Amino acid sequence: MSVTSAPSAPPAGGPGPAYERGTLGKLYRTRLSKGRAVLGEMFGGHVEWESKGAWVTTTEGKRVLNCGGYGVLLLGARHPTVVRLVEEQLHRNPVATRVLLEPQAALAADALVEVVPPGLERVHFASSGAEAVETVIKMARTKGKDQLVAMHAGYHGKSMGALSLTDKEVFQAPFRPLLPDVRHVPFGDAGALDRLLATLAGRGCVVVEPVQGEAGVILPPDGYLRAVAEACRRHGAFFVLDEVQTGLGRLGTWFGADREGVTPDALLVGKGLSGGVVPVSAVVATPSAFSVFDRDPYLHTSTFSGVPLAMAAARGAITAIKDEGLVERSRELGAELLTTLGDTAREHFGEAVREVRGRGLLLGFEFAEPGIAGDLLIELVARGVIANHSLNSHLTLRLTPPAILDRSDVAFLYEAFDGACRAQASRYVPTSKGGPDHA
Ligand SMILES: Cc1ncc(COP(=O)(O)O)c(C=O)c1O
Repeated sequence: MSVTSAPSAPPAGGPGPAYERGTLGKLYRTRLSKGRAVLGEMFGGHVEWESKGAWVTTTEGKRVLNCGGYGVLLLGARHPTVVRLVEEQLHRNPVATRVLLEPQAALAADALVEVVPPGLERVHFASSGAEAVETVIKMARTKGKDQLVAMHAGYHGKSMGALSLTDKEVFQAPFRPLLPDVRHVPFGDAGALDRLLATLAGRGCVVVEPVQGEAGVILPPDGYLRAVAEACRRHGAFFVLDEVQTGLGRLGTWFGADREGVTPDALLVGKGLSGGVVPVSAVVATPSAFSVFDRDPYLHTSTFSGVPLAMAAARGAITAIKDEGLVERSRELGAELLTTLGDTAREHFGEAVREVRGRGLLLGFEFAEPGIAGDLLIELVARGVIANHSLNSHLTLRLTPPAILDRSDVAFLYEAFDGACRAQASRYVPTSKGGPDHA
């Protein structure tokens, strides 16, 4: 394991009774959610203590390589540049007056505009990805674009507007009615989108991910985003790229948009913008898309929008990604991991591996049978690696490793992945030919 990125172990004798797994399990069951308590038990009941770089230590001194974290940790945990800027801000001015001018928001917006596609110049900050989605739904309405179009199996969050776009029955069902006038078309099929937009009389608002993360790392055909942009232009639709998961280097480019040279009306950023330290998301829009927010600064606000502490984190994250060449690192390391881990999965599971795919450090392993991805996740945790399940695909194990992994971290990942696949494959008995995904 990399010595430089090692978090410290808990104090000798443990951190105290309040942190014992039994005590915490009870608090989870009685004060948080029973379901979440069960999930924690399923993954071994380990209790997080400290994180640093790619590693997390538990209260019992176990070290875990974090290749999950919902895709937040491109920089790993507690990146020194982010921590320094956030600490300075914490001790100087963590929350703004919102009456005087506050420099951190302006500087963070400027830093973000520098790295997004040309033409996107105006920024609205929020805290979560879903909040950014809500913002853009409202922004589109100010342009008369009230007919929402999202993609099959797409994921955009779980607040009411965002959930209306997220295409997953079990997430939507308990909360209906959702927003009206929402339609879904197949991801990757620009023709289907074009035909639908032709029926919406110039009132469409299209929300699409460049690569679908939670759907199980689905890559569209080359040229898809360009075709989506053209269809939107042709039919007068508002074009939103949701890069909450894919943005800021995750795909080995600053944004998924860059690969095809498209500029949407609005681009959504989240997750990695936090630097893994303070939650923050953003809508970056063209001046024309943004115009109504220009006119009335109170039209769309929230208490913690642009809070200086989060702005320091965002600026730190962008600076660190730039200074350390992490976009390129994501591309190169991602290609290596995809090949090596893909070979390992196929070696052990053979035909049960339906597909291994990815771009940059967003990697998906799709299996032919439900259950393999989930069991592999548990097996990986037991061997010291955290991965992700995919919220809209029970067949796909997803890895979102940090770009700061060093050679010894990578070696550890290879060994743990090989061991986990070997153990899981030896227990695996094919039961059927699989089934449709995203149940
Ligand atoms: C593409 C995409 N959009 C939006 C969201 C919602 O972000 P949040 O969970 O921060 O609300 C996610 C979360 O995974 C996402 O992957």
